[in-house]
Amino acid sequence: MNKNIEKIILEKVDSTNTYCKELIRNGKTNDFLVISNEQTAGRGRLGRSFYSPKDVGIYMSLALRYDDDFNLVSVTTKTALSVLEALKEFTDKTLKIKWVNDLYLDNKKVCGILTEGCYNDESKFIIIGIGINVFETEFPDELKEIASTLNIKENNKEKIVDRIVCHILYYLFSDHNNEYIKKYKEHSNCLNKDIHYFKNDIKYFGHVIDFTEDGELVLINSENKTIVLNSGEISIKTV
Ligand code: BTN
Repeated sequence: MNKNIEKIILEKVDSTNTYCKELIRNGKTNDFLVISNEQTAGRGRLGRSFYSPKDVGIYMSLALRYDDDFNLVSVTTKTALSVLEALKEFTDKTLKIKWVNDLYLDNKKVCGILTEGCYNDESKFIIIGIGINVFETEFPDELKEIASTLNIKENNKEKIVDRIVCHILYYLFSDHNNEYIKKYKEHSNCLNKDIHYFKNDIKYFGHVIDFTEDGELVLINSENKTIVLNSGEISIKTV
């Protein structure tokens, strides 16, 4: 792994993202990666929780320092593509990206990504939190219909994590031509599809026609107007 990233491996933690924030607020000034075998309070987007039982998943947070010319807007979409490409090295199952950054297998979620900012007097960090259902597991009733697992047979969590980090570093720091967005579109499950999107709990209709270079969603709404949505407080459902 290049970029000299310190690796912190834990058996159990509330949330690897929260743990990163604590380290940063206590003065960390280097890039680092936290991996835990279990989370007791895994967090997802929009205040949701992320089911993180022990042994069967990858729960990791990559904390990277950034400066003023760094493009924060595209971090989540670039991360989704990075995780998908890394996972393809370990499974031949077809994964799809549900905008913004969930990975789906046969219409069920196998991976969620939560990116957050945090800073101290010395450095600004982006924390990229990734949760993947990797091995065989039973989901609780409320998740059975919506979550799935990659069901990878070999226990190669460490290798998977290393490959994910490599792909992320490439897309965040070396993809100078934004080639990522072309690939992102190829793996999207909502391009050219009708969707509903939810903003402040109100349901709207749209037809997705494109993504911007920053990974924002371009759609035609029910009044036939083209609008651009960034991830903010929005969630979508394919119709
Ligand atoms: C989502 O589904 O909305 C995002 C889920 C992100 C889960 C990962 S697991 C590692 C990291 N720590 C957390 O508390 N959340 C992220």
